[in-house]
Amino acid sequence: MATRTQTRTSTRTNSNRNRSSEEDRGSSSSSSKDRSAFSWGENAGPLLGAALAGVAIGFAANYGRKALMQGMEAATGDWDEMLAAEHDMALAVFDKMLATDQTQTFKRKMLLMKLTHALDKHAHQEEMVVYPALREANEAVSADQLEGEHGYIKTFIYELNKMGADSNNWLEKVREFRDLVSRHAHMEEEEVFPRFKQSMSEEQNARVTSLVNRDGFWMA
Ligand SMILES: [Fe+2]
Ligand SMILES: [Fe+2]
Repeated sequence: MATRTQTRTSTRTNSNRNRSSEEDRGSSSSSSKDRSAFSWGENAGPLLGAALAGVAIGFAANYGRKALMQGMEAATGDWDEMLAAEHDMALAVFDKMLATDQTQTFKRKMLLMKLTHALDKHAHQEEMVVYPALREANEAVSADQLEGEHGYIKTFIYELNKMGADSNNWLEKVREFRDLVSRHAHMEEEEVFPRFKQSMSEEQNARVTSLVNRDGFWMA
């Protein structure tokens, strides 16, 4: 998402620069007050260059990070295997959360942030690709149930953020949250996804894998 914003910013900046050079060419016969309010000063060149270089570096760094994430995901196989690996990763973060005590508020907040990002990316891949594909394959009841549970997963995140990391019932809330994610993942991995995969052609399987990969790439 950020890269699209950066691209838009870069395009806008370039068009401003073009306008600036046109105005500069005609500026000998016009006073500065005739200039557009959006025109750049004479010293804007180096600043603009630095700003554009910054955008380019940011883009490259972000792209590199995404490419790395993508490479890791691509190595794990089909869409259902990638999603199962993400379930395991999320459950491992829950276990780290459950191993903390009330004094470790910073660690709890960091782990909750990591979990939130991982679950958000995971839910996006399922909601934008897998569940629509399930509905297309006459599995709307399962897709709707699973998507409804994602809403309760977000509700747990909301409640944990609200209650504070030193709260007396923080661990209890995390335990309930883990149970929900574990049951949800189990339903996907043991029932819905295998049934769906069995009904797919090789082309469909490859297409869903590619779309999940692509969605995960932009969400990474
Ligand atoms: Fe899910
Ligand atoms: Fe899932």
